[in-house]
Amino acid sequence: MPKLTVEGFPTVDVEPGKRLVLAIEQDAHVDVLHACGGNARCTTCRVEFIDGEPSAMTQAERQVLAARGVTGVRLSCQIQCTHDMTVRAISRLTGSGRPDPGPTPATEITPPPVWS
Ligand code: FES
Repeated sequence: MPKLTVEGFPTVDVEPGKRLVLAIEQDAHVDVLHACGGNARCTTCRVEFIDGEPSAMTQAERQVLAARGVTGVRLSCQIQCTHDMTVRAISRLTGSGRPDPGPTPATEITPPPVWS
């Protein structure tokens, strides 16, 4: 099973292929934001990779990061846990002033991923 470490929290085992945003929230129990519900629109699910950053990227992730001029982060809603990863949760409900983290993302990556 892939291992996920969110910096500052215990390492957890994750179901292979699980969306990273869901693994952070449900397995690591870290209050990551996902304001658009995991649809590559908001970038609030952004994380910094410390280790294990996947090279593949969905076109949706690539486009929204480019459109916003954001670098050095990845969208956890557009990544599957296929191997061990260590990330820094830099966008959390705590301290955000938001009432909730956003709609729960679907089990599968949305929109349907086109990998590049
Ligand atoms: S971009 Fe909105 S939850 Fe990932």
